[in-house]
Amino acid sequence: MHLFHRSNKDNNSMKNGVQLIAVASPQSAITEQFRTIRTNIRFMGVDKEIKTLAFTSGNVSEGKSTVTDNTAVTFAEDGKKVLLIDADLRRPTLHRTFRVSNRVGLTTVLTSDKKEFVVDDVIRPSGIANLSILTAGPKPPNPSELLGSRKMEEFVKLISQYYDKVIIDLAPVLEVSETPTLASHLDGVVLVVRQGVTRKPNIARTVQRLKFAKVNLLGYVMNDIKASNGGYGYGYGYGYGYGYGYGYGSQHGKKNKK
Ligand SMILES: Nc1ncnc2c1ncn2[C@@H]1O[C@H](COP(=O)(O)OP(=O)(O)OP(=O)(O)O)[C@@H](O)[C@H]1O
Ligand SMILES: [Mg+2]
Repeated sequence: MHLFHRSNKDNNSMKNGVQLIAVASPQSAITEQFRTIRTNIRFMGVDKEIKTLAFTSGNVSEGKSTVTDNTAVTFAEDGKKVLLIDADLRRPTLHRTFRVSNRVGLTTVLTSDKKEFVVDDVIRPSGIANLSILTAGPKPPNPSELLGSRKMEEFVKLISQYYDKVIIDLAPVLEVSETPTLASHLDGVVLVVRQGVTRKPNIARTVQRLKFAKVNLLGYVMNDIKASNGGYGYGYGYGYGYGYGYGYGSQHGKKNKK
């Protein structure tokens, strides 16, 4: 029997940006969960500090941008100098979230002939203390090529010298072939899994591709945990290879006590 799966694609965040819950409701249980994600990432970096970090997922609309941006806000709130980069060139959201122009951005840097990046022209303040942003920039005809390029790798290395944390919103692994390549140049990557949406075989495939590219997979964030009151929550866990992380780790769907 052939089963049709309803597309989970949701274009809302591309039009309106993601919800910055960590800014709108700093005392909420959800924001607290983003702080827990921050703390867990910090603990993962005891041996070697995780400076360049990205969130990704298998497919679209699983909550990557929401988790990336809100976690970045909690790092900035902690006094870390953070650069947030939108490297999802096909489905960018950062300029919408922070209501800035996307006339220049990451693609401007990657397509520039200049040897020295004029970063002051492309990196902007976010309006939140300690948080700078680099939007995706104009859509290129060859996004995969740009992201997998040597120039991208060098840019991330170079720019990370000026920040405590460089946090990147990556395109989904199963839909953009260059994601694992880019991810492999970073200190750590966290997988976003959406409860009830992400299919288990896709998690396995995603993990397999990241591992094949020798990505330092730190763990996963379980997004959209159905709480008993119908609110939504985030959980964080470890343990890939142990049943894909499902049912393992410190997942807990807390109520959204806004
Ligand atoms: N926990 C949640 N509960 C309810 N809605 C959510 C949750 N997480 C994300 N969403 C919504 O789902 C949609 C997709 O979220 P988001 O843009 O963060 O995902 P994404 O993985 O970055 O998607 P894309 O593949 O388009 O980049 C948005 O409309 C967002 O508001
Ligand atoms: Mg996104």
